[in-house]
Amino acid sequence: MKFNNILITGGAGFIGSNLIRYIFEKTDFTGRIINLDKLTYAGNPLNIVDIEQKEHGKRYFFEHGDICDYDNDVRIFKQYDVDAIIHLAAESHVDRSIIGPGEFIRTNINGTFALLEACCSVWKDRKDVRFHHVSTDEVFGSLGAVGYFTETTAYDPRSPYSSSKASSDHLVRAYFHTYGLPITLTNCSNNYGPYQFPEKLIPVMIYNMRDRKPLPVYGDGKNIRDWLYVEDHNSAVWTVLQNGKIGESYNIGGENEWENIKLVNTLCEIFAQETGADEAEIKGLITFVKDRPGHDRRYAIDCSKLKKELDWRQSVDFNRGLRKTVRWYLDNIKWAESIRSGEYLKWIEKNYKDR
Ligand code: NAD
Ligand code: DAU
Repeated sequence: MKFNNILITGGAGFIGSNLIRYIFEKTDFTGRIINLDKLTYAGNPLNIVDIEQKEHGKRYFFEHGDICDYDNDVRIFKQYDVDAIIHLAAESHVDRSIIGPGEFIRTNINGTFALLEACCSVWKDRKDVRFHHVSTDEVFGSLGAVGYFTETTAYDPRSPYSSSKASSDHLVRAYFHTYGLPITLTNCSNNYGPYQFPEKLIPVMIYNMRDRKPLPVYGDGKNIRDWLYVEDHNSAVWTVLQNGKIGESYNIGGENEWENIKLVNTLCEIFAQETGADEAEIKGLITFVKDRPGHDRRYAIDCSKLKKELDWRQSVDFNRGLRKTVRWYLDNIKWAESIRSGEYLKWIEKNYKDR
């Protein structure tokens, strides 16, 4: 289905900013994108400054606001005649959810609820509209050595983050079953690529290598994640938005499982090749640290439904994607430094206070 005015929530974050760029640059979309973002610590306008410069006020509109603000959500739906929403805004970092779950409950659950309510109040019984919810494989819990998460795997979230995402998934489905809201939902594995906030594994490792700081590997380093290049996640979300069946969920994954310690060693090798650093010295920075409480052991995604029914494929080979990613972070030190120094908060104050 074709949409004209797509509201993207969380479009200043890692996946959202890459998604906006992907839609403008790699698809035949001719309509408008409205980006609703609260600009929390994880939302960075520098992530979309290129789009802002080219498209602001034409095909791209930024709305600085909180998804939990129902009245503002309704205003945005009406003002831009929104006919589809891709909902990404969330508190996204597991470690932060362990330290302070409150904001995860507020944004991920109450915020999704406010958006669903706004959709129902503005769209009423329209069927030519769509609520696409971007979720995570973490809702399925933790796997042993064998098996995969499928779309019918029972939910078994373990962290405050994954529990809040599971709740939001249930709410989205409830609005389909109860009120007939046209929804689709995707559950994706670990993304990597440019513009990821440097608190997640891959950017943390790259910047610590650069600064010759310890590379903190949680527990025994044998936890397994499935990795997917962010543009492949976004192409899948776009595919589901266009062709997904209403009311259905689709798993998205890289079919690319790595033990954390093996991934960190590979990153050390790529970093040494790219910078000329001594590989042994960089690997010597690896430090096993106290494990994350409730650390899920293994995630692995069966995404055959998406491949078979909607003909989606991953396109970025992991070694190539990782090398590109290492290069991007090294070439964008200023971006990282502005985050670390809080310079971008001043930039927000200057550029966004009147919007
Ligand atoms: P992120 O933390 O980089 O970005 C989140 C964005 O949401 C930020 O721009 C932030 O300012 C915004 N935001 C937070 N609270 C808000 C609020 N109350 N109102 C409006 N905006 C708010 O996250 P990400 O890694 O880009 O993840 C995006 C979505 O994808 C999340 O829903 C996450 O659960 C999901 N997801 C992420 C991954 C991954 O590997 N990163 C994998 C699967 C699913
Ligand atoms: O699976 C999808 C999820 O992937 C998303 O829903 C989350 O939003 C996203 O943050 C990510 O969650 P993880 O907890 O898997 O990502 P993180 O980068 O924090 O950690 C990846 C693995 O690396 C995990 O097993 C913990 C480990 N780790 C992480 C950090 C930051 C370390 O060993 N050391 C670290 O310093």
